[in-house]
Amino acid sequence: MAGREDTHFGEKTVPLADKQGLVDDVFHSVARRYDLMNDLMSGGLHRAWKDALVTAVNPPPKGRPGRLHEKTGKPFALLDLAGGTGDVAFRVVEAGGAGTRVTVCDINADMLAVGRERARERGHDEAVSFEQGNAEELPYPDRSFDCVTIAFGIRNVPRIERALAEAHRVLRIGGRFLCLEFSSVTVPGVDALYELYSFNVIPRIGQAITGDREAYQYLVESIRKFPKPPAFAKMIEAAGFRRVSFKSMTAGVVALHSGWKL
Ligand SMILES: C[S@@+](CC[C@H](N)C(=O)[O-])C[C@H]1O[C@@H](n2cnc3c(N)ncnc32)[C@H](O)[C@@H]1O
Repeated sequence: MAGREDTHFGEKTVPLADKQGLVDDVFHSVARRYDLMNDLMSGGLHRAWKDALVTAVNPPPKGRPGRLHEKTGKPFALLDLAGGTGDVAFRVVEAGGAGTRVTVCDINADMLAVGRERARERGHDEAVSFEQGNAEELPYPDRSFDCVTIAFGIRNVPRIERALAEAHRVLRIGGRFLCLEFSSVTVPGVDALYELYSFNVIPRIGQAITGDREAYQYLVESIRKFPKPPAFAKMIEAAGFRRVSFKSMTAGVVALHSGWKL
């Protein structure tokens, strides 16, 4: 159709305007079983990847008063974009000292509801707030966070450039953007095994645990469609970030991207 912009939803081509709704359906469907699925699909490895992200965030250490921002005098504030059920947020507040505050922003009310329940159970409802919002159009003022993270979220966002520009806008000068995302396995032999596992095993586990095979078929397809780390690093740079770098982990299964607002 003339003038219609398309994008991909997994292997399917869909109108750009439809992608967010399709992504939302996936996470409505899997929200209750999302964390269990992460453990099952990754054999627990997602915990190590998220720990590497938290190390890079470098929240103010425990046992000391919270680090105050040198200019604003406010405690360390982190925005976890597409933060879903709060996994990254909880790790940051557990690693950080008093005063560490995390805002989880996610578009999906069901993922956020699971996150709020988990925060109450863990006693983190003071330190972590859950807010509904679209990464492409953040409901926060300019320069309001010391760090912005996004874990396994960016590939679900229809207009990635807009989300990167928004992350840059809400960061304070000197703040860091960190993005954990699936990447592409480059080790010969491991790549074929990974492909086999992704396309044959993951959708079956998804079917057994969540009753939604399609959702996990989308997740593995969307990994394949996501730009390779050097291309994604260029997108981060184009959004205005400096000293952009990435580190591949687990034979390239995931990459941790970093950029600074300078
Ligand atoms: C694979 S989950 C990742 C959740 C969490 N970061 C983690 O690592 O466990 C992807 C999340 O991205 C969210 N998401 C998708 N599109 C979004 C958007 N445009 N803005 C904000 N969140 C979005 C989904 O609702 C979902 O919670």
